[in-house]
Amino acid sequence: MDKHNKSEWSSRYSFILATIGSAVGLGNIWRFPYIMGQNGGAVFLLVYLILIVTICFIPMMAELSLGKLTKKECISTYEYINPKLKILGALNPITGIIIAAFYFVVSGWIINYIIKSFYFVRSENYGDYFNSIVQNGMLSTSLTLAFLLICVFTAARGLKKGIEFANNILMPLFAIILICLIYVSLTLPNSHLGLEYMFMPDFSKLNGSMVLAALGQAFFTLSIGMGALLTYGSYIQDDKSITKSAYTIVIADTMFAILAGIMIFPAVFSFNLEPSSGAGLVFVTLPQIFSQIPNGNNISCAFFILLFCAAVTSGISIIEAPISTLIARCNISRIKASIYVFFMVSVLAIPASLSFGIMEKYKIFGKSIFDFLDFLTANIMLPLNTLFLCIIVGWILKGGSITFIQNKFLEKIFNIGLKFVIPIVLVLLFYFGLKN
Ligand code: TRP
Repeated sequence: MDKHNKSEWSSRYSFILATIGSAVGLGNIWRFPYIMGQNGGAVFLLVYLILIVTICFIPMMAELSLGKLTKKECISTYEYINPKLKILGALNPITGIIIAAFYFVVSGWIINYIIKSFYFVRSENYGDYFNSIVQNGMLSTSLTLAFLLICVFTAARGLKKGIEFANNILMPLFAIILICLIYVSLTLPNSHLGLEYMFMPDFSKLNGSMVLAALGQAFFTLSIGMGALLTYGSYIQDDKSITKSAYTIVIADTMFAILAGIMIFPAVFSFNLEPSSGAGLVFVTLPQIFSQIPNGNNISCAFFILLFCAAVTSGISIIEAPISTLIARCNISRIKASIYVFFMVSVLAIPASLSFGIMEKYKIFGKSIFDFLDFLTANIMLPLNTLFLCIIVGWILKGGSITFIQNKFLEKIFNIGLKFVIPIVLVLLFYFGLKN
C-alpha cells in the first residue's frame, strides 16, 4: 500500500508526464489548429502565447497547489477550506463527467479512422464520409463506449499501474509520431505557405473576439477548471515548489500545440485547402490530403494513432477527478468507483453520440445535445469553476503562500492576478461566452 494509505506519484517525472498527458489532447491537435485557422493564424498564435504565460498560468498553479496542499479530492478540498464550499467542490467532478460525455464522442471517431486507414479508398468524398460516421448511431455510440471503456479500465488499474503506465507508453509514442509527421508535412511542395500563415502575423486581424477565443482555448488546453489538475496535484509527494513543474507543463503543452500546427498547416496549404474549415479540419480535410499523398494509408493510420494517444491520456485525467471523489466520499474501491463513472458518463455520452443522427431533433436551447454539452462546459462551467477557484485561493487562502513561490515579487504578481485580473477576465469570458 502507498505511504499514508494514499495514492502518490512514483516520482516528480511521473507527475509532470501525466499532467502533460492531461493537457495535451484533442484540444491541441483537433481544436487548436481550427480555432487558429478561424481567427487569423499567426496573430492568434501570438495572442495565445502571451495569454498562456501571463494569465492562464496563474489559475493553473492555483489548482495544482490546492490539491497539493490538502492532498484530498475536489469535494473534501473545498470542504477543508470551509464546509459551506462543498457544493462548489462538487461542481468540478460534475463538470468532468459532462466534458467526458462529448470529448469521448469525438475520441470514438478517432478509433473509426484508425481502422479505416487500413482500407483506404481514393477519391472518396470525405465530407460525406464523416457525416455518415457521425450520423450512424449504432457505430458512433459503440465507438464512444469503447473509448470510454479504455479510459475507465486504465484508471481502474490505479495510479501507478494504470495512469502512469499509460502515460509512459502513450506520450513517447505520441512525440515520435508527431516528429515523423512533421517531416512528411514539411517535405510536401509549397509547405512554406503554411509556415508563413502560422508565423507571419497580420495585425489587421487582431480583434476582441479573437482574444476571447484564445483565452478559452488556453484554459481548455491546460485542463483548468474541473478538478483534473487538483486531483493530479493531490498525488504529489514532495514539498517543493511546483512553479517549475507548472512551467514545464505549460511549455510542453504550448510546444505540442505549435508542433501540431506545423504538422497540419503546411499540408493544408500545400493542397490549397482551407485552414478555417472548423471541426472538420482533422476529420475531413486531412483524410482528403492523406488520400492524395504517397503512403497515405500509413500516414493516416499514424496520424489517428497520434490523436488517439493524446485523447486517451487526457480522457483518463477527465474521469480521474470524479473517480477519486467517489472513492473518498462514498468510501468505495477504485474499481467500483470506475464502474459508477462509466455509467454516469454513458448516460450523457450516448445521447450526445446520437445527437447527429436519430436524436438530431432534440434541442436544448436551440442546440443539439452534443453542442449543448460543449457549450455548457466550455463557456459556462469551466470559467465558473475557475472563477470560484481563484476567489477561494486568492481571497480566502491568501494565494502565493500555498504555492510556495520563493520570489516575493513573483508572489505579489501571482496574488494580484488571482484576486483581480483573472476574475475580471473570467467574467468577461463568461459574459461573451453566454452571448454565443
Ligand atoms: N486539455 C485537454 C485537451 O487539450 C482536455 C482536458 C483534459 C480538459 N482535462 C481537462 C479540459 C479538464 C478541461 C478541463 O484536449
